[in-house]
Amino acid sequence: MMDIWNSLAAQAKAAQARSIMALFDTADRADDFAVETAEMRFDYSKTNIDNATRDMLLALAEDAGVAAKRDAMFSGAPINQTEDRAVLHTALRNLDGGPVMVQGGDVMPQVLDTLARMRRFADKIRASDITDIVNIGIGGSDLGPAMATAALHPYHDGPRTYFVSNVDGAHISDTLQGLDAKRTLIIVASKTFTTIETMTNARTAKAWMQEHGGDPAIQFAALSTAEDKTSTFGIAPDQVFGFEDWVGGRYSVWGPIGLSLMIAIGPKAFDAFLRGAQAMDSHFRAAAPLENMPMMLALTGIWHNQICGHATRAVLPYDQRLNQLPAYLQQLEMESNGKSVRIDGSDSPRNTGPVVWGAAGTNGQHAFYQLIHQGTWVIPCEFLVAAQGHEPDLAHHHTLLIANCLAQSEALMRGRSLNEACEMMAAAGLTGDELERQSRHRVFSGNRPSTTLVYPRLDPFTLGQIIALYEHRVFVEGVILDINSFDQWGVELGKELATSLLPVIEGTKPATDKDPSTATLVAWLNKHRG
Ligand code: F6P
Repeated sequence: MMDIWNSLAAQAKAAQARSIMALFDTADRADDFAVETAEMRFDYSKTNIDNATRDMLLALAEDAGVAAKRDAMFSGAPINQTEDRAVLHTALRNLDGGPVMVQGGDVMPQVLDTLARMRRFADKIRASDITDIVNIGIGGSDLGPAMATAALHPYHDGPRTYFVSNVDGAHISDTLQGLDAKRTLIIVASKTFTTIETMTNARTAKAWMQEHGGDPAIQFAALSTAEDKTSTFGIAPDQVFGFEDWVGGRYSVWGPIGLSLMIAIGPKAFDAFLRGAQAMDSHFRAAAPLENMPMMLALTGIWHNQICGHATRAVLPYDQRLNQLPAYLQQLEMESNGKSVRIDGSDSPRNTGPVVWGAAGTNGQHAFYQLIHQGTWVIPCEFLVAAQGHEPDLAHHHTLLIANCLAQSEALMRGRSLNEACEMMAAAGLTGDELERQSRHRVFSGNRPSTTLVYPRLDPFTLGQIIALYEHRVFVEGVILDINSFDQWGVELGKELATSLLPVIEGTKPATDKDPSTATLVAWLNKHRG
């Protein structure tokens, strides 16, 4: 295994002196370095991966045992070792697959039963006089349904839907303002039902509803694995939708945590969303590595981040309704693969998950693309664009959108040489030193890698496929890095310290065990709190 990493490091060195454009001298690179499913195409030809590099990347995946570990995940083995849990978000979209066994029992009857209850509840709410839904949750209990609800706006024919996540009172206050408490459904989404931000917001929403004539006994629903805690909170059992601990928070949009989305778009469209993910699961399980989209997306990630050493990657959807995708992927990728130790507890010998960031194109073009094109950092870019929009009357907007997307990846690869820049400036009338100086500012180094995912239209089925694609990409990268992608111990310390700081800020405990910086900041803030 070490040999392959070393060989790949040598490939990365060689690639520095190699032009991506020149790789297209092989006639069919555009097809050879792309993967298609029945509906989508993933193009990684505008990267500096050549045939030899790709063979080594595939060998890396084989050596890491990706296929066997993938099968172990789908079959319900406890691959989340630090929590001794199976990882089975795929069971939530296994609509017509076979049984899925966990500890000797088939989980599918329970999954399908909960899904049927969700559909009945969604239909009931959609037919009722509820006009607004507020989903209260954070992290995986917020980002998935919030991102997907925005993405599927053209299919949104249910009540208006809001998402409250931040414990900052501004979030819930701004959201509830103007809502009719008698016609609002509050959904408390929390796997553990202990998350302080969510429980604080849920209590505030309950008090608001009581104060404004609503009835929390019938206008609250809960989505959680902790059904005892939901009943202590006072939520009627028939409005509680449970799930098991083998669904990780950031992988949970497919089950009860997706209830707000299901109410917004209706059970039929939600089914299509699940079926899209199921189609990607089948593809991931069956396709040979070279034809396997999650595999090749993961291998380009490993190449760029771990082997070439680029610390970040930008996700750039040319799809306004996917403007929350970067935030969603930040949790999915960074909470999953932002680890420092390997599964056996030893230190990782290499960098693990990269920084993931981005924004919807074309907005990003007018903000941070300057750095992407001419800055000193190389930022591998991941573009996404649909063939069609949902606005037939505005087809010319979509044409422009596609042109912008493809132009960016072309510009990143092609660049502009000093000669070309000089010709341009000479044509504008410049001469001598000024010609040279001005031209240098207009040079683009080019040779900057990007990938492009294209799909017909952002409908529920396609969105399901896209999210499942990224989930499996994270899985493959985690296996190659030999880390547990399914725990998140790194969020615990901050939570513990916040709890211990509360009495200090409330003034009931001195700041004696705090460091001088923290103690001084507490004192300053308390002095100015009024
Ligand atoms: O951020 C940590 C985390 O545990 C996430 O993994 C999770 O999605 C989020 O908090 C919310 O947790 P819960 O659904 O239990 O409220």
